[in-house]
Amino acid sequence: MRLILVGPPGAGKGTQAVHLAAHYSIPHISTGDIFRANLKEGTPLGVEAKGYMDKGELVPDSVTNAMVKDRLNHSDTTNGFLLDGFPRNVAQAEVLKGILEEKKTPIDAALELAIENSEIIKRLSSRRTCKECGKAFPGALDKCDSCGGELYQRDDDKEEVISRRLEVYTEQTAPIISFYRTAGLLITIPAVGDVAEITAGAIRALSQKLS
Ligand code: AP5
Repeated sequence: MRLILVGPPGAGKGTQAVHLAAHYSIPHISTGDIFRANLKEGTPLGVEAKGYMDKGELVPDSVTNAMVKDRLNHSDTTNGFLLDGFPRNVAQAEVLKGILEEKKTPIDAALELAIENSEIIKRLSSRRTCKECGKAFPGALDKCDSCGGELYQRDDDKEEVISRRLEVYTEQTAPIISFYRTAGLLITIPAVGDVAEITAGAIRALSQKLS
């Protein structure tokens, strides 16, 4: 299964990606997580990305495309992958199409998580993230229930940055929905409600689409 998750910030892409990647036994590739891991390690890539992420802007395509191209060359992607947070504009979608055409391994589907802005703002402003494993939680807990790591609020989950991320999504990312609809690859599911029910709905919709 080669799958793309599309949706605004806070739609639950990371949350659903963990369950879908486990279900299909494919790696979960999150560009945001790769940038944050680089930032934690203090690499030049992380330092460069932070300047954009903290403002809610996209990291330049030249940096992001090269990073994804490299990741898709790892051997664990042979039987598929789930991309979370990439592509994020039509230019990135075209680059991805080119990379996969060269490998003769096209995308199977682009799964859109649909959600209202009011719910997004609620989710992002209360989200806490594990410093160690990156797991997201809907509100303050003492520590991560998976690894015991300390929780923090992402710099881009501050109110003024959330607004900019939503603008960037509408202006730059939302056009990829038409891109994948035109390609006959788009599936849209509602992303509100019980996490497990959303996962089950996604798996049902994907198996209908691919049957
Ligand atoms: P990235 O990390 O990709 O952030 P994002 O797309 O803004 O998505 P989020 O991680 O904020 O949300 P999500 O949809 O994963 O939701 P989550 O599951 O956490 O990117 C960060 C930045 O990196 C970008 O702004 C950009 O600067 C840069 N970047 C990344 N990719 C790039 C690219 N391709 N090109 C250029 N720049 C790039 O859920 C949110 C909250 O809701 C959590 O607290 C969760 O517990 C809760 N939740 C989840 N599901 C439910 C539910 N069903 N009900 C109630 N609560 C729920």
